[in-house]
Amino acid sequence: MFETLPQLPADPILGLSVAFQQDNNPDKVDLGVGVYKDDAGRTPIMAAVHAAEQRRLEQEDSKAYTNPAGYPGANAGVNELVFGADHPALAAERVRTIQTPGGCGALRVAAELIRRARPEATIWVSSPTWANHVPLLGNAGIALQEYPYYDHTSHSIDFDAMLASLRQVAKGDLVLLHACCHNPSGADLTQVQWQAVADVAREREFTPFIDMAYQGFGEGLDQDAYGVRLLAQTQPELLVASSFSKNFGLYRERAGSLSLVLADRERADAIHTQMLNVTRGLYSMPPAHGAALVDIILHDSALSTQWRTELDSMRARIQGLREQLVDALSQRQQTRDFGFIARERGMFSFLGLSVGQVHALRARYSIYMTDNSRINIAGLNPETIAYVADAIAEVLAQDS
Ligand code: LMR
Repeated sequence: MFETLPQLPADPILGLSVAFQQDNNPDKVDLGVGVYKDDAGRTPIMAAVHAAEQRRLEQEDSKAYTNPAGYPGANAGVNELVFGADHPALAAERVRTIQTPGGCGALRVAAELIRRARPEATIWVSSPTWANHVPLLGNAGIALQEYPYYDHTSHSIDFDAMLASLRQVAKGDLVLLHACCHNPSGADLTQVQWQAVADVAREREFTPFIDMAYQGFGEGLDQDAYGVRLLAQTQPELLVASSFSKNFGLYRERAGSLSLVLADRERADAIHTQMLNVTRGLYSMPPAHGAALVDIILHDSALSTQWRTELDSMRARIQGLREQLVDALSQRQQTRDFGFIARERGMFSFLGLSVGQVHALRARYSIYMTDNSRINIAGLNPETIAYVADAIAEVLAQDS
Protein backbone atom coordinates (compact mmCIF):
# COMPACT_ATOMS: atom_id res chain seq x y z
CA MET A 1 0.00 0.00 0.00
CA PHE A 2 2.79 2.47 0.72
CA GLU A 3 3.77 2.72 -2.93
CA THR A 4 1.04 5.36 -3.07
CA LEU A 5 3.12 7.75 -0.97
CA PRO A 6 5.97 9.72 -2.54
CA GLN A 7 9.28 10.61 -0.90
CA LEU A 8 9.09 14.02 0.72
CA PRO A 9 11.70 16.78 0.89
CA ALA A 10 13.45 17.33 4.24
CA ASP A 11 11.60 19.43 6.83
CA PRO A 12 12.41 23.10 6.10
CA ILE A 13 13.65 23.69 9.66
CA LEU A 14 14.68 20.33 11.19
CA GLY A 15 16.26 19.19 7.90
CA LEU A 16 18.84 21.97 8.29
CA SER A 17 20.24 20.38 11.45
CA VAL A 18 20.89 17.13 9.59
CA ALA A 19 22.63 18.97 6.76
CA PHE A 20 24.66 20.97 9.27
CA GLN A 21 25.83 17.84 11.10
CA GLN A 22 27.02 16.34 7.81
CA ASP A 23 29.02 19.46 6.86
CA ASN A 24 32.78 19.00 7.46
CA ASN A 25 33.72 22.68 7.24
CA PRO A 26 35.32 23.57 10.64
CA ASP A 27 33.98 27.14 10.26
CA LYS A 28 30.35 26.07 9.84
CA VAL A 29 27.71 28.10 11.70
CA ASP A 30 24.23 26.81 12.54
CA LEU A 31 21.63 29.58 12.51
CA GLY A 32 18.82 27.19 11.58
CA VAL A 33 16.63 25.47 14.13
CA GLY A 34 15.51 27.61 17.06
CA VAL A 35 17.53 26.21 19.92
CA TYR A 36 19.37 28.35 22.47
CA LYS A 37 23.15 27.97 22.41
CA ASP A 38 25.92 29.34 24.59
CA ASP A 39 29.15 30.91 23.33
CA ALA A 40 30.66 27.43 22.91
CA GLY A 41 27.78 26.40 20.66
CA ARG A 42 26.28 24.06 23.26
CA THR A 43 22.70 23.89 24.47
CA PRO A 44 23.39 23.36 28.17
CA ILE A 45 20.90 21.93 30.65
CA MET A 46 19.88 24.90 32.80
CA ALA A 47 21.29 24.60 36.33
CA ALA A 48 17.82 24.86 37.89
CA VAL A 49 16.60 22.08 35.60
CA HIS A 50 19.59 19.94 36.46
CA ALA A 51 18.94 20.40 40.20
CA ALA A 52 15.25 19.58 39.73
CA GLU A 53 16.22 16.43 37.83
CA GLN A 54 18.43 15.26 40.67
CA ARG A 55 15.63 15.84 43.13
CA ARG A 56 13.17 13.97 40.92
CA LEU A 57 15.53 11.04 40.52
CA GLU A 58 15.76 10.72 44.29
CA GLN A 59 12.05 11.17 44.93
CA GLU A 60 10.25 9.44 42.06
CA ASP A 61 8.99 6.12 43.36
CA SER A 62 6.75 4.87 40.58
CA LYS A 63 6.37 4.79 36.82
CA ALA A 64 2.63 4.19 36.98
CA TYR A 65 0.47 6.32 34.67
CA THR A 66 0.04 9.94 35.62
CA ASN A 67 -3.19 11.91 35.60
CA PRO A 68 -4.46 12.28 31.98
CA ALA A 69 -4.20 16.07 32.40
CA GLY A 70 -0.62 15.73 33.69
CA TYR A 71 0.61 16.71 37.15
CA PRO A 72 -1.95 18.96 38.87
CA GLY A 73 0.88 20.93 40.50
CA ALA A 74 2.48 21.63 37.14
CA ASN A 75 -0.83 22.82 35.69
CA ALA A 76 -1.37 25.14 38.65
CA GLY A 77 2.17 26.50 38.32
CA VAL A 78 1.76 26.99 34.59
CA ASN A 79 -1.51 28.88 35.12
CA GLU A 80 0.32 31.37 37.33
CA LEU A 81 3.23 31.62 34.91
CA VAL A 82 1.02 32.17 31.89
CA PHE A 83 -1.82 34.26 33.31
CA GLY A 84 -0.24 35.78 36.43
CA ALA A 85 -1.27 34.61 39.92
CA ASP A 86 -3.96 37.27 40.40
CA HIS A 87 -5.67 36.99 37.04
CA PRO A 88 -9.47 37.31 37.28
CA ALA A 89 -9.96 34.40 34.84
CA LEU A 90 -8.15 32.13 37.31
CA ALA A 91 -10.16 33.48 40.24
CA ALA A 92 -13.37 32.83 38.27
CA GLU A 93 -12.17 29.27 37.53
CA ARG A 94 -12.61 29.89 33.81
CA VAL A 95 -9.19 28.38 32.91
CA ARG A 96 -8.42 24.71 32.27
CA THR A 97 -4.83 23.69 31.55
CA ILE A 98 -3.49 20.31 30.54
CA GLN A 99 0.07 19.21 29.88
CA THR A 100 0.90 18.31 26.30
CA PRO A 101 3.84 16.84 24.41
CA GLY A 102 5.53 20.21 23.82
CA GLY A 103 3.97 23.28 22.27
CA CYS A 104 3.39 21.24 19.09
CA GLY A 105 1.19 18.83 21.04
CA ALA A 106 -0.77 21.77 22.46
CA LEU A 107 -1.34 23.23 19.00
CA ARG A 108 -2.53 19.91 17.63
CA VAL A 109 -4.87 19.19 20.54
CA ALA A 110 -6.28 22.70 20.14
CA ALA A 111 -6.84 22.08 16.43
CA GLU A 112 -8.69 18.83 17.16
CA LEU A 113 -10.89 20.60 19.70
CA ILE A 114 -11.65 23.40 17.26
CA ARG A 115 -12.63 20.85 14.63
CA ARG A 116 -14.98 19.16 17.09
CA ALA A 117 -16.52 22.42 18.20
CA ARG A 118 -16.73 24.22 14.88
CA PRO A 119 -15.50 22.24 11.87
CA GLU A 120 -16.35 25.08 9.50
CA ALA A 121 -14.09 27.57 11.35
CA THR A 122 -11.03 29.05 9.69
CA ILE A 123 -7.83 29.73 11.63
CA TRP A 124 -6.16 32.94 10.50
CA VAL A 125 -2.38 32.83 10.75
CA SER A 126 0.11 35.65 10.36
CA SER A 127 1.98 36.08 7.10
CA PRO A 128 4.56 34.81 7.64
CA THR A 129 4.16 32.35 10.49
CA TRP A 130 6.15 29.42 11.88
CA ALA A 131 6.33 26.85 9.07
CA ASN A 132 5.06 24.05 11.31
CA HIS A 133 1.83 25.86 12.15
CA VAL A 134 0.51 24.87 8.75
CA PRO A 135 0.78 21.06 9.10
CA LEU A 136 0.04 21.05 12.84
CA LEU A 137 -3.25 22.87 12.39
CA GLY A 138 -4.07 22.15 8.76
CA ASN A 139 -3.56 18.37 9.03
CA ALA A 140 -6.31 18.33 11.64
CA GLY A 141 -8.61 19.31 8.80
CA ILE A 142 -9.02 22.99 9.61
CA ALA A 143 -8.99 25.65 6.91
CA LEU A 144 -6.19 28.21 7.25
CA GLN A 145 -6.00 31.74 5.90
CA GLU A 146 -3.34 34.40 6.28
CA TYR A 147 -3.51 37.93 7.61
CA PRO A 148 -0.72 40.39 6.74
CA TYR A 149 1.85 40.82 9.50
CA TYR A 150 5.50 41.43 8.69
CA ASP A 151 6.43 43.92 5.99
CA HIS A 152 9.80 42.86 4.55
CA THR A 153 10.40 46.33 3.08
CA SER A 154 10.05 48.34 6.28
CA HIS A 155 11.26 45.42 8.47
CA SER A 156 8.34 45.96 10.81
CA ILE A 157 4.75 44.93 11.42
CA ASP A 158 2.28 46.37 8.91
CA PHE A 159 -0.24 46.90 11.68
CA ASP A 160 -2.74 48.84 9.57
CA ALA A 161 -2.92 45.99 7.06
CA MET A 162 -3.13 43.44 9.87
CA LEU A 163 -6.00 45.26 11.55
CA ALA A 164 -7.83 45.79 8.26
CA SER A 165 -7.60 42.06 7.62
CA LEU A 166 -8.74 41.12 11.14
CA ARG A 167 -11.78 43.36 10.60
CA GLN A 168 -12.81 40.94 7.83
CA VAL A 169 -12.58 37.82 10.00
CA ALA A 170 -15.94 36.06 10.32
CA LYS A 171 -17.67 35.50 13.64
CA GLY A 172 -16.59 32.13 15.05
CA ASP A 173 -13.25 32.02 13.24
CA LEU A 174 -9.96 31.95 15.14
CA VAL A 175 -6.92 34.19 14.89
CA LEU A 176 -3.57 32.69 15.77
CA LEU A 177 -1.28 35.25 17.42
CA HIS A 178 2.29 34.87 18.68
CA ALA A 179 2.46 35.96 22.31
CA CYS A 180 6.02 37.26 21.92
CA CYS A 181 9.21 36.69 19.92
CA HIS A 182 7.28 36.25 16.68
CA ASN A 183 8.59 33.26 14.78
CA PRO A 184 10.01 33.85 12.16
CA SER A 185 10.26 37.67 12.20
CA GLY A 186 11.10 38.70 15.79
CA ALA A 187 8.66 41.63 15.39
CA ASP A 188 6.21 41.81 18.30
CA LEU A 189 2.99 43.69 18.91
CA THR A 190 3.20 46.63 21.33
CA GLN A 191 0.79 46.82 24.26
CA VAL A 192 -1.26 49.42 22.38
CA GLN A 193 -1.45 47.10 19.38
CA TRP A 194 -2.57 44.20 21.60
CA GLN A 195 -5.35 46.41 22.91
CA ALA A 196 -6.43 47.21 19.35
CA VAL A 197 -6.46 43.47 18.53
CA ALA A 198 -8.59 42.84 21.64
CA ASP A 199 -11.06 45.51 20.48
CA VAL A 200 -11.36 43.93 17.02
CA ALA A 201 -11.74 40.45 18.53
CA ARG A 202 -14.69 41.67 20.59
CA GLU A 203 -16.18 43.58 17.66
CA ARG A 204 -15.86 40.68 15.17
CA GLU A 205 -16.45 37.93 17.75
CA PHE A 206 -13.51 35.82 16.66
CA THR A 207 -11.59 33.66 19.13
CA PRO A 208 -7.94 34.48 19.77
CA PHE A 209 -5.61 31.51 19.80
CA ILE A 210 -2.16 32.37 21.17
CA ASP A 211 1.04 30.45 20.63
CA MET A 212 3.47 31.25 23.45
CA ALA A 213 6.64 29.31 22.69
CA TYR A 214 9.18 31.87 23.93
CA GLN A 215 7.83 33.34 27.18
CA GLY A 216 10.78 35.05 28.88
CA PHE A 217 12.87 35.47 25.74
CA GLY A 218 11.37 38.80 24.65
CA GLU A 219 11.17 41.39 27.44
CA GLY A 220 10.58 39.17 30.48
CA LEU A 221 8.19 36.48 31.73
CA ASP A 222 5.39 38.88 32.69
CA GLN A 223 5.90 41.38 29.88
CA ASP A 224 5.83 38.60 27.27
CA ALA A 225 2.46 37.40 28.55
CA TYR A 226 0.85 40.84 28.21
CA GLY A 227 -1.33 39.86 25.23
CA VAL A 228 -2.39 36.56 26.78
CA ARG A 229 -3.36 38.21 30.05
CA LEU A 230 -5.21 41.04 28.32
CA LEU A 231 -7.22 38.75 26.05
CA ALA A 232 -7.99 36.35 28.92
CA GLN A 233 -9.67 39.32 30.58
CA THR A 234 -11.44 40.85 27.61
CA GLN A 235 -12.56 37.76 25.69
CA PRO A 236 -15.11 35.12 26.63
CA GLU A 237 -12.91 32.42 25.13
CA LEU A 238 -9.19 32.08 24.45
CA LEU A 239 -6.77 29.26 23.62
CA VAL A 240 -3.12 29.37 24.71
CA ALA A 241 -0.49 26.86 23.57
CA SER A 242 2.64 27.10 25.75
CA SER A 243 6.00 25.48 25.22
CA PHE A 244 8.67 24.84 27.84
CA SER A 245 11.23 23.81 25.24
CA LYS A 246 12.91 27.19 25.15
CA ASN A 247 12.34 28.86 28.52
CA PHE A 248 13.17 25.72 30.54
CA GLY A 249 15.46 24.31 27.82
CA LEU A 250 13.42 21.08 27.85
CA TYR A 251 13.36 20.61 24.07
CA ARG A 252 13.65 16.82 23.86
CA GLU A 253 11.46 16.17 26.89
CA ARG A 254 8.42 17.51 25.00
CA ALA A 255 6.97 19.69 27.74
CA GLY A 256 4.17 22.11 26.99
CA SER A 257 0.61 22.90 27.92
CA LEU A 258 -2.71 23.88 26.46
CA SER A 259 -4.84 26.35 28.39
CA LEU A 260 -8.41 27.15 27.48
CA VAL A 261 -10.17 30.16 28.92
CA LEU A 262 -13.91 29.57 28.80
CA ALA A 263 -16.98 31.72 29.39
CA ASP A 264 -17.64 30.43 32.91
CA ARG A 265 -16.78 27.63 35.32
CA GLU A 266 -19.50 25.25 34.11
CA ARG A 267 -18.34 25.58 30.50
CA ALA A 268 -14.74 25.14 31.63
CA ASP A 269 -15.62 21.88 33.42
CA ALA A 270 -17.42 20.58 30.34
CA ILE A 271 -14.64 21.51 27.91
CA HIS A 272 -12.01 19.98 30.19
CA THR A 273 -13.67 16.60 29.57
CA GLN A 274 -13.41 17.26 25.82
CA MET A 275 -9.73 18.18 26.13
CA LEU A 276 -9.00 14.91 27.90
CA ASN A 277 -11.10 12.94 25.46
CA VAL A 278 -9.12 14.39 22.54
CA THR A 279 -5.76 13.58 24.13
CA ARG A 280 -6.89 10.06 25.09
CA GLY A 281 -7.65 9.45 21.42
CA LEU A 282 -4.33 10.89 20.27
CA TYR A 283 -1.66 9.80 22.75
CA SER A 284 -3.52 8.91 25.96
CA MET A 285 -1.52 11.09 28.32
CA PRO A 286 1.38 13.54 28.23
CA PRO A 287 5.05 12.72 28.92
CA ALA A 288 5.81 13.11 32.62
CA HIS A 289 9.46 14.02 33.06
CA GLY A 290 9.68 17.55 31.65
CA ALA A 291 6.42 18.61 33.27
CA ALA A 292 7.59 17.24 36.62
CA LEU A 293 10.68 19.46 36.39
CA VAL A 294 8.54 22.50 35.61
CA ASP A 295 6.39 21.60 38.63
CA ILE A 296 9.42 21.28 40.93
CA ILE A 297 11.00 24.54 39.75
CA LEU A 298 7.83 26.61 39.89
CA HIS A 299 7.11 25.44 43.46
CA ASP A 300 10.56 25.88 44.97
CA SER A 301 11.45 29.51 45.55
CA ALA A 302 15.23 28.99 45.37
CA LEU A 303 15.02 26.98 42.15
CA SER A 304 12.50 29.38 40.73
CA THR A 305 14.79 32.34 41.39
CA GLN A 306 17.71 30.46 39.88
CA TRP A 307 15.69 29.57 36.79
CA ARG A 308 14.48 33.16 36.32
CA THR A 309 18.04 34.46 36.66
CA GLU A 310 19.31 31.98 34.07
CA LEU A 311 16.49 32.88 31.72
CA ASP A 312 17.23 36.59 32.18
CA SER A 313 20.86 36.03 31.24
CA MET A 314 19.90 34.01 28.15
CA ARG A 315 17.64 36.83 27.04
CA ALA A 316 20.33 39.44 27.70
CA ARG A 317 22.87 37.39 25.77
CA ILE A 318 20.61 37.20 22.72
CA GLN A 319 19.99 40.94 22.89
CA GLY A 320 23.74 41.56 23.08
CA LEU A 321 24.29 39.34 20.05
CA ARG A 322 21.63 41.26 18.14
CA GLU A 323 23.47 44.52 18.79
CA GLN A 324 26.87 43.03 17.94
CA LEU A 325 25.56 41.64 14.67
CA VAL A 326 24.10 45.01 13.67
CA ASP A 327 27.44 46.71 14.44
CA ALA A 328 29.43 44.08 12.56
CA LEU A 329 27.20 44.38 9.49
CA SER A 330 27.27 48.18 9.47
CA GLN A 331 31.08 48.12 9.62
CA ARG A 332 31.28 45.88 6.54
CA GLN A 333 28.70 47.30 4.20
CA GLN A 334 26.59 50.43 3.80
CA THR A 335 24.02 49.28 1.26
CA ARG A 336 21.63 47.95 3.86
CA ASP A 337 20.59 49.12 7.30
CA PHE A 338 20.28 46.08 9.57
CA GLY A 339 19.36 48.19 12.62
CA PHE A 340 15.96 46.48 12.78
CA ILE A 341 17.66 43.31 14.08
CA ALA A 342 18.48 45.08 17.36
CA ARG A 343 14.87 46.23 17.70
CA GLU A 344 13.43 42.75 17.26
CA ARG A 345 13.07 40.21 20.05
CA GLY A 346 13.50 36.53 20.76
CA MET A 347 15.53 34.03 18.82
CA PHE A 348 14.73 35.05 15.27
CA SER A 349 15.10 37.79 12.70
CA PHE A 350 14.96 37.82 8.94
CA LEU A 351 18.14 38.98 7.22
CA GLY A 352 16.09 39.98 4.19
CA LEU A 353 18.16 37.91 1.74
CA SER A 354 16.96 36.08 -1.37
CA VAL A 355 16.85 32.29 -1.49
CA GLY A 356 19.85 32.44 -3.85
CA GLN A 357 21.82 34.45 -1.29
CA VAL A 358 20.82 32.05 1.51
CA HIS A 359 21.99 29.12 -0.59
CA ALA A 360 25.24 30.91 -1.42
CA LEU A 361 25.90 31.40 2.31
CA ARG A 362 25.30 27.69 2.85
CA ALA A 363 27.34 26.45 -0.12
CA ARG A 364 30.31 28.84 0.15
CA TYR A 365 30.53 29.56 3.87
CA SER A 366 28.64 26.69 5.56
CA ILE A 367 26.33 29.18 7.24
CA TYR A 368 22.93 27.55 7.73
CA MET A 369 19.59 29.36 7.93
CA THR A 370 16.10 28.66 6.62
CA ASP A 371 15.42 29.59 2.99
CA ASN A 372 13.42 32.66 4.01
CA SER A 373 16.67 34.05 5.55
CA ARG A 374 15.45 33.59 9.14
CA ILE A 375 18.42 33.33 11.48
CA ASN A 376 18.55 31.96 15.00
CA ILE A 377 20.41 34.80 16.72
CA ALA A 378 21.23 32.49 19.66
CA GLY A 379 23.33 30.39 17.28
CA LEU A 380 25.84 33.27 16.95
CA ASN A 381 28.72 34.05 19.31
CA PRO A 382 31.22 36.92 19.44
CA GLU A 383 33.66 34.92 17.28
CA THR A 384 31.28 33.73 14.58
CA ILE A 385 29.65 37.15 14.25
CA ALA A 386 32.67 38.47 12.34
CA TYR A 387 32.70 35.44 10.02
CA VAL A 388 28.94 35.62 9.41
CA ALA A 389 29.00 39.40 8.85
CA ASP A 390 31.92 39.06 6.39
CA ALA A 391 30.03 36.38 4.47
CA ILE A 392 26.77 38.38 4.35
CA ALA A 393 28.63 41.49 3.16
CA GLU A 394 30.39 39.47 0.47
CA VAL A 395 27.17 37.87 -0.76
CA LEU A 396 25.46 41.27 -0.86
CA ALA A 397 28.41 42.82 -2.74
CA GLN A 398 28.41 40.02 -5.31
CA ASP A 399 24.73 40.53 -6.02
CA SER A 400 24.80 44.32 -6.25
C1 LMR B 1 12.04 26.66 15.15
O1 LMR B 1 11.19 27.39 14.65
O2 LMR B 1 13.17 26.55 14.69
C2 LMR B 1 11.72 25.92 16.43
O3 LMR B 1 10.43 26.23 16.85
C3 LMR B 1 11.95 24.46 16.30
C4 LMR B 1 10.98 23.76 15.41
O4 LMR B 1 10.45 22.73 15.84
O5 LMR B 1 10.74 24.19 14.27
